[in-house]
Amino acid sequence: MAEKAVLQVGDQSIELPIIEGVEGERAIDITSLRSETGLITYDPSMGNTGVCQSEITFIDGDKGILRYRGIPIEQFTQSPNFVEVVWLLIFGRLPKLDEITPFSELFTSNALLHEGLRLQYNDIPKDAPPMAILSATLNSLSYYHQELLSIEDSKSFMQAAARLLSKVRTMAAFAYRRSLGLPFIYPDPQLRYCANFLHMMFSQPYQQFEVTQEIEDALNLVFILHADHEQNCSTSTVRMVGSSQANLFASCAAGVCALWGPLHGGANVKVIEMLEGIHSGGIKPKECIRMAKDKEEGFRLYGFGHRVYKNFDPRARVLKEACDKVLAQLQVNDPLLDIARELEELALEDSYFVDRKLYPNVDFYSGIVLRALGIPTNMFTVCFSIGRMPGWIAQWKEQHDNPNSRIQRPRQVYMGPKENNYVPIHKR
Ligand code: ACO
Repeated sequence: MAEKAVLQVGDQSIELPIIEGVEGERAIDITSLRSETGLITYDPSMGNTGVCQSEITFIDGDKGILRYRGIPIEQFTQSPNFVEVVWLLIFGRLPKLDEITPFSELFTSNALLHEGLRLQYNDIPKDAPPMAILSATLNSLSYYHQELLSIEDSKSFMQAAARLLSKVRTMAAFAYRRSLGLPFIYPDPQLRYCANFLHMMFSQPYQQFEVTQEIEDALNLVFILHADHEQNCSTSTVRMVGSSQANLFASCAAGVCALWGPLHGGANVKVIEMLEGIHSGGIKPKECIRMAKDKEEGFRLYGFGHRVYKNFDPRARVLKEACDKVLAQLQVNDPLLDIARELEELALEDSYFVDRKLYPNVDFYSGIVLRALGIPTNMFTVCFSIGRMPGWIAQWKEQHDNPNSRIQRPRQVYMGPKENNYVPIHKR
């Protein structure tokens, strides 16, 4: 017989079903709680609430495990291929050779921006934050591709997904070029996904940027490690917006907005700013640790801590190793890496961090790899967005394809004034 939880409220006792995930995670299904008892559950910031059943990504935060469609992320690191992971996340299995080629071709044929959109860049202020440009331009796909606002079949889904996955690189690179007043570099159909992005970022009209295999591998790795992370803040945002049956472009643009914050994807910028501050002589690593522990300081050790991981973030482990390799290959000597290592060592020996199970997260080392590739700090979270795009699309699709999906609508416990009377302005 299926297991049930029994809830006693006053003299009423109700049984609630327990559902079990394939990895043994158990959840009490409270769908009938309110209709049977009038009660709702209270879980601020949703630290203990499952909002969906998903087949995409598995995390065991206590053991430091992350798997995409069952495959541990460490297995993607040998010859990293982001486009394969995109397919895997979205369609649920690794692609065959005769599937990946047309999929890549779809990216090539969708890499250009609508001419109207390209011209829009000229009116954007030069100092505009690239994340603002990215969310706005992604959303603008909703008016350039109105035929894809409602996705009725697999063909239109594929068309919309390919536009997002391909154009996001072009939009990001154009945002960077605009900030420097440089001419836009058009995508090159001969180049693979990551190489093409670097080409649009760094080539000049008179000189092609040389993308070595090492650089291409490193960027593939960074994108893969960011590709999905189940129900995090930005992905939950994409699902929330998508649950109203808003279109895929608008839902993913909302994901970019959520990712921007310093407690989420924006942390990769904060980490580098913190390391640069330490390096330029402002603060010593020990002082930084002291400040992070002192609540009065209002300072956090960016790149540390995670809602789900109470152990090493497996992505940070891979990136820490990648830092050594990439910096050596590119012959880059970055003093920030030494500082990051020292901070990590100090934190992992400090009872404040040990007791709270605060370990380095993906953002702690990702910025150092991106810096080594020549990516400027204000583009770090944009690169995170490019990497996360397949995850957002896969999660949106899973929700869209589920016939039982309903609009997401959390409840609240109201604590404001009791019923009151309106007072006309001259009597207040
Ligand atoms: N530095 C110092 N103290 C920290 C840190 C940190 N980085 N992170 C958590 N803590 C402390 C909190 O102050 C709190 O202490 P208390 O129990 O004495 O009050 C305790 O650890 C628990 O922290 P919460 O904030 O409750 O944890 P929560 O799950 O809400 O937040 C978060 C997780 C936002 C990631 C947090 O750890 C943080 O702010 N880290 C720094 C920002 C960061 O790196 N974000 C990227 C996360 S990964 C990603 O989004 C891609």
